Amino acid sequence: MKIAILPGDGIGTEIMAEAVKVLNVLDLKLETEQALVGGAAYEAHGHPLPESTLNLAKSADAVLFGAVGDWKYDKLERQLRPEQAILGLRKHLGLFANFRPAICYEQLTHASSLKPELVAGLDILIIRELTGDIYFGQPRGRRVAIDGHFPGAEEAFDTMRYSKPEIERIAHVAFQAARRRNKKVTSVDKANVLETFQFWKDVVTEVHAQYPDVALDHMYVDNAAMQLVKAPKAFDVVVTGNMFGDILSDEAAMLTGSIGMLPSASLDKNNKGLYEPSHGSAPDIAGKGIANPLATILSAAMMLRFSLNQPEAAARIESAVRSVLSAGLRTGDIWSEGTRKVGTREMGDAVVAALVTTTTITKG
Ligand code: IPM
Ligand code: MG
Repeated sequence: MKIAILPGDGIGTEIMAEAVKVLNVLDLKLETEQALVGGAAYEAHGHPLPESTLNLAKSADAVLFGAVGDWKYDKLERQLRPEQAILGLRKHLGLFANFRPAICYEQLTHASSLKPELVAGLDILIIRELTGDIYFGQPRGRRVAIDGHFPGAEEAFDTMRYSKPEIERIAHVAFQAARRRNKKVTSVDKANVLETFQFWKDVVTEVHAQYPDVALDHMYVDNAAMQLVKAPKAFDVVVTGNMFGDILSDEAAMLTGSIGMLPSASLDKNNKGLYEPSHGSAPDIAGKGIANPLATILSAAMMLRFSLNQPEAAARIESAVRSVLSAGLRTGDIWSEGTRKVGTREMGDAVVAALVTTTTITKG
């Protein structure tokens, strides 16, 4: 099994080093190959997603991705900005199904900005469509307006669009995921205003007929944003479009205390995937050795489960993470009174140590 390792920018390299350490201790005969992506690739090769990196990602069984981006690239033309690397990988690898779980670990209930009783035991799954919507819709650009409020003025535009098959396949993913959980899907739309999302709602409703054992409800995105902070535990699986999913998944992440804890998976139709922490490259803390590596370590666990068919190894990593939290180790983002603040490397070492211990117990 070959894994493409793409650390990227900012804290990407630091957190990836810890995840690779964790993978190496598992004894799984994994082959890894590393490549530059994002700003780092732009510096070295003049492009955020060089051919060689894309080819490695295509040829690997799975991709483990750190994070990309830095403010210093904000003035580059759009096609050369680090974010294009992740958008390009999603597009070229056909990664249309993005899983963003928001789980509130028992040990971190007090790290959330919401009252503990609202988030204790929270376990929701946001499924975001990842290769369509206004992110990729054509046409887009700048031009002189020929109509609208100011004809003759300079304007910019993007296109929100979804085809029926695009909605159908993500709806199937959501209903099937719900079957493995609490059998409830909330489809988030803006059908009261947007044609695209009236269509979304209609198609999701049609697909639902094939899943009578799963409950479906529909919610407007503004209401969903509100319900997420009012009664988050009422959700099970949330399925939505690319842009609404981008926004709601950051909101859901904060319910859990820290975005530094959350892994994600982006899958194609054959369950080949790219796995990345939900957080970004955090250039403000890069190089300081204080970033939380747990989201990347947990992304590696998701990779073992979804793409590499190693559910036991995945479960071992997840329980090692839980035991490290129970032992009171915390990076700065999840630290609270009475726990021990550690750096990136110490956190990674602790997970490795917990894994080695459980290995000895199961083998012994
Ligand atoms: C995410 C990020 C990306 C997105 C950016 C970096 C292009 O915010 O993965 O949520 O908007 O999809
Ligand atoms: Mg985002």
